[in-house]
Amino acid sequence: MLWGVSMFFKSWFARYEERFNVNYEKLRLITPDIRYWRSFKNSYRGYRAHKVEDFAYPKVDTLEEFSYFLRSADEHRRGLNVPYGSVPTSLFWLTDDVNYLASGSIRHYLNDNLKLFGGHIGYSVRTEVWGMGLGTILLGYLLPEARKLGIIRPRLTCYESNTASRRVMEKNGAVFMGRVVNRINGKDRPTLIFEIDLTMR
Ligand SMILES: CC(C)(COP(=O)(O)OP(=O)(O)OC[C@H]1O[C@@H](n2cnc3c(N)ncnc32)[C@H](O)[C@@H]1OP(=O)(O)O)[C@@H](O)C(=O)NCCC(=O)NCCS
Repeated sequence: MLWGVSMFFKSWFARYEERFNVNYEKLRLITPDIRYWRSFKNSYRGYRAHKVEDFAYPKVDTLEEFSYFLRSADEHRRGLNVPYGSVPTSLFWLTDDVNYLASGSIRHYLNDNLKLFGGHIGYSVRTEVWGMGLGTILLGYLLPEARKLGIIRPRLTCYESNTASRRVMEKNGAVFMGRVVNRINGKDRPTLIFEIDLTMR
């Protein structure tokens, strides 16, 4: 009994300690930068604890690994050495001058797989700041970047169970286009497809 109570308080405090303040006035969309290397690395703990599937977990433990990650991101943005089955992709980070807060990717065009799963834009917010409006803000920042790349009707997808992601899309003007069932890692995953019309933006 005593053990149970002490574990409850430990986990409550651990969660409490994990959260940090966000300086909304300093929010910026940037390309990955060594300045936030440590903060980015620290975000993995939360992503892993919450078993976040929509985060790539690049290997960035050492400076060499981080430099490789930066180089690859730059190449993929320019359409070079793009992994098999993927397409040229621009990777962005949301930061507030102190912390890495979230990642967003823009796929420059769709292949057959991305049409049904992944779409043009993907994002993940670090767990310590979930529910603070950052997913919505991040997508709002990514849309003009997509427009600059000539994407006029970005397609976005999310698992049917991912209410938070669905809301992030809807709050940015996404319109529901349909539902498909994707087979992912041997499991049927109902997936919703949305599009956002950027012609007037
Ligand atoms: C989905 C995700 C990006 C949302 O980011 P966020 O910063 O927490 O989102 P916001 O704070 O902007 O909230 C957006 C909406 O989702 C709702 N929401 C947030 N967390 C929620 C949850 N766990 N369950 C249900 N709704 C939730 C908010 O209430 C808000 O809706 P409202 O304005 O109608 O109240 C974030 O949870 C995440 O990174 N998840 C893991 C990766 C992922 O799923 N990426 C999307 C792949 S499609």
